[in-house]
Amino acid sequence: MERTYLMVKPDGVQRGLIGEIVGRLERKGLTLIGAKLMLVTEEQAKRHYAEHEGKDFYDRLMTFITSGPVFAMAWQGDQAVAAARQIIGKTNGLEAAPGTIRGDYALHTNYNLIHGSDSAESAERELGIFFQESELVGYDKTIQAWI
Ligand code: PPS
Repeated sequence: MERTYLMVKPDGVQRGLIGEIVGRLERKGLTLIGAKLMLVTEEQAKRHYAEHEGKDFYDRLMTFITSGPVFAMAWQGDQAVAAARQIIGKTNGLEAAPGTIRGDYALHTNYNLIHGSDSAESAERELGIFFQESELVGYDKTIQAWI
């Protein structure tokens, strides 16, 4: 069982898309094991996006992610990282396939609604930035055996 860190970004929260996004992930069969509405601190943003420091979009990304509440989520499931990224779609909303979250709702790269960890290692690192382990609730759903 794999875990992943997903985050509805400030644009998704303000556009009222939390429920839509959570619903899509639930219907895929992933299990929500932690969630909270929160403001990302500058320190958390720096740690989260450390690998992008120096890139031309870094400052814009930092300003954006700290500009308003995000909905931080921990999800669990078989190949949860890949499954979530498939549902999220490509970074650029115009390149993301219809049927994906970004393909259906995002026009821009800078405002692309949701973050999803790109590997199991990143997921564990990112979960550690935004959650205490005690905030996560691991549990088995009986339906898990069917999907
Ligand atoms: S890279 O350079 O290929 O590693 O970038 P990528 O993985 O596609 O994106 C890394 C995160 O940066 C965001 N991003 C941008 N933000 C604003 N403007 C521009 N031009 C831009 N390009 C990429 C992108 O949404 C990724 O954020 P997360 O939160 O990980 O989705």
